[in-house]
Amino acid sequence: MAQRSQWGTRAGFIMAAVGSAVGLGNIWRFPYVAYENGGGAFFIPYLFALLTAGIPILIMEFTMGHKYRGSAPLSFFRMGGKKAEWLGWWGIFVSFVISVYYAVIIAWAMKYTVYSFKLSWGTDTESFLFGDVLNLAETPGQAGGFVPGVLFPLLLVWALAFIILFAGVQKGIELANRIFIPTLCVVFLLVVIRAVTLDGALLGLDAFFKPDLSKLMNPTVWVAAYGHIFFSLSIAFAIMITYSSYLPKKSDITNNAFITGFANSAFELLAGIGIFAALGFMATQANVAVAEVASAGVGLAFVVFPQIINEMPGFNGLFGAAFFLSLTLAGLTSLISISETYIAGVSDKFNLSRSKAVIITVGTATVISTLFATRGGLYFLDVADYFINQFGVAAIGLVEVVLIAWAFKKLGVFKDHANAVSDIKVGAWWTICLSVVTPLVLGYMMFGLLRVNILKLHEKNGEIIGNYEGYSNGFIWASGWSVVIFAIGMAVIFTLFKWRKNTLETSDYEED
Ligand code: ALA
Repeated sequence: MAQRSQWGTRAGFIMAAVGSAVGLGNIWRFPYVAYENGGGAFFIPYLFALLTAGIPILIMEFTMGHKYRGSAPLSFFRMGGKKAEWLGWWGIFVSFVISVYYAVIIAWAMKYTVYSFKLSWGTDTESFLFGDVLNLAETPGQAGGFVPGVLFPLLLVWALAFIILFAGVQKGIELANRIFIPTLCVVFLLVVIRAVTLDGALLGLDAFFKPDLSKLMNPTVWVAAYGHIFFSLSIAFAIMITYSSYLPKKSDITNNAFITGFANSAFELLAGIGIFAALGFMATQANVAVAEVASAGVGLAFVVFPQIINEMPGFNGLFGAAFFLSLTLAGLTSLISISETYIAGVSDKFNLSRSKAVIITVGTATVISTLFATRGGLYFLDVADYFINQFGVAAIGLVEVVLIAWAFKKLGVFKDHANAVSDIKVGAWWTICLSVVTPLVLGYMMFGLLRVNILKLHEKNGEIIGNYEGYSNGFIWASGWSVVIFAIGMAVIFTLFKWRKNTLETSDYEED
């Protein structure tokens, strides 16, 4: 079997890991999650989640990849045979689902980068998005034909990802991150600097940072912090195990994890400042409270932001292009890491060359991804995103820590491995966080999530609306539970396939 690919430099690895972590989640999810869950006070649960779950799991996943030198399924297989392997595949299929809708959001961002120059969205940015751009179907669940204006940018996103992934770990992923991440930092910093110097920015920052300490007594706030950390740090969906499997033997683990974790949080904080400063400006222009303009996700990026850009006192187009370019770059570097999980997994298991694995897996993802370029795409995306995050990413987080700590009892071995190569040594705090704190919080969280979704207790504006966003049972099954079941089912099927002899014969890793 060919020698395993490796990162060229330590900085290259860190850049790629940060590129994976910093993504759409940081820019359009974090600011609103923080605002909605106590503003300044949210930093307490956020830091707690980061230090008890985020960074400890990152250290654990870096250790696994570095120690076992394999894709997620191969690393888990080497740790505990087939009884553990499925967990790696579960992460991979969750990644697969995420990648097929994540790419569509990048496609919209790309389109909006071009629209920015001429402010093509006009004054009614909402009708422009849902009508002109997405041609959104009337009812959730209808695919209703392709929207060519979304389909072509989507194919372009996949073509870019394909080229980078095909070029390999060092010449593709590392090089792309070395170019995109510094560019993203500069461009996004310009957006934030412009935003904080706008009229009314302080009003927005005040709304963002004002601590609502009473929220700290509410368990949902702590759950929100935990839920966010997993997606944001790219942990528990096979990514960081895959990336760290390309580390040379003599590599630091713990310090790299701290750098990645803190860089991701710094970017998130910066995004919160930029977004809320801009929202403060908009609220001032419209003479309303910040609460009335604050939102997240699609609405924030593609409806509210174009409005803000319209209102800017000058250089509107440039500001808009810089914002959407930031979204595109942040998204693209994450998409690459999400897709690398399945390329590595398939290539290891079936002993395929990288090129073949890229063609097969990225080709399949591209085809499935086009579902989200139909008229009903946004609804599918909304439900799939919610379900795969809660019952994919967070659920894997829980199962992963419980199995590693309690069933396979590997924390001691991992601790020794990480400490032997790292500047910063992990101690008892790490073991306690992973074996006690995180399982308890995530267990509580999963119980609550199952209860709300099975008993249909979702709320909106204080009223029970049933299913998530009030969607019909049929649609929740077709687009939500189905992707959850798909990920687990495929994980079982792929675990049942036999490993190619060549893969397992490689003894290029450290046995326990
Ligand atoms: N970590 C990536 C994000 O935040 C997936 O979007």
